[in-house]
Amino acid sequence: MPSDSMKSIQISHRYGSYEVRFESIDSAIERLPSDLRIITDTNVVQHFGPLLEAKAPVVMIDPGEQSKSLKSYGSLLSWLAKTKASRKTMICALGGGVVGDLAGFVAATYMRGVPFYQIPTSLLAQVDSSVGGKVGVDLVEGKNLAGAFYPPSGVSIDVAVLRTLPVNQFVNGMAEVWKYAFIMDAGLTEPLAAEGWGVEHPALGEVVRRCIALKAEVVQGDEFETLGLRAILNFGHTVGHAVEYAVGYGNILHGEAISIGMVVEAKLGEMLGMTRKGVTQEVSQYLANQGLPTTHSILKSERALLSAMYGDKKAAGGNLAFSLLSDIGRCKLVESVPEATVLAAMRES
Ligand code: GLY
Repeated sequence: MPSDSMKSIQISHRYGSYEVRFESIDSAIERLPSDLRIITDTNVVQHFGPLLEAKAPVVMIDPGEQSKSLKSYGSLLSWLAKTKASRKTMICALGGGVVGDLAGFVAATYMRGVPFYQIPTSLLAQVDSSVGGKVGVDLVEGKNLAGAFYPPSGVSIDVAVLRTLPVNQFVNGMAEVWKYAFIMDAGLTEPLAAEGWGVEHPALGEVVRRCIALKAEVVQGDEFETLGLRAILNFGHTVGHAVEYAVGYGNILHGEAISIGMVVEAKLGEMLGMTRKGVTQEVSQYLANQGLPTTHSILKSERALLSAMYGDKKAAGGNLAFSLLSDIGRCKLVESVPEATVLAAMRES
């Protein structure tokens, strides 16, 4: 039986469309074709090992951002070749954002592209990375610097799996959920800030569905992030990615870094006179109540962070671009933000 809403969401892209289905992982795996390879991680496999092995060849990566590397990418391509995967073989990513991004890049490039299916098992991957077709790996020089836009053939979401995760992984994903509330949907703050909000809350399935619908709206309007629409999803990410890079992958969770980044970028908007006064305080309070960090000692290393921001692929032509809030629930992409204000916002956060 599906573990949550029966609804599905259709997402169109340059080649056609795919469906995000709300169903149990068992049903999703059962429905996939037999010519399949499954990429997962050593944590996830503990919950689904026998189900997967009965279905298709399985390979596991180590959990964590360190696995989103060229080395793992090369090993997975070789595994596909050794197991005689063909152009028709489907690759299924069963795991969090790291598994999805890495497996998707493998699928996009193995034999110049094979079918790809996403079954995200973390909140972060369900509401963000499994939808929209961004796949890739990190380079030593920065996050997601090698990748592609490669839409999946489909995505299956089972929120019941989130209850099997450590609490910090759920909280990590909540940073991206709050991001949707801050940039697009002030009404979302209501369930999220309600008494008893958490992984057991009955509204969780509906909140996840709402985030995916918001993301679908954005990516369908600007699939390749060239029109200034999709870039609004980067709220908190310009600073957040720099924090992640400077602290060292594996030393901070993505959601934690993004949470810190959202507070700094809300402050930046206030300093530029774009954001209503008081929004930073509200953003910070919501995130702190969720158990997310709102500042970090690394923010004192302003110059190192700034240099990481310029290395980020979002820094178009040497200019720093930010998705800045005008109020809770509304934002705008701003290009060429003055460096001095970015430094000041980090200093004051
Ligand atoms: N994670 C932001 C995007 O998919 O564009």
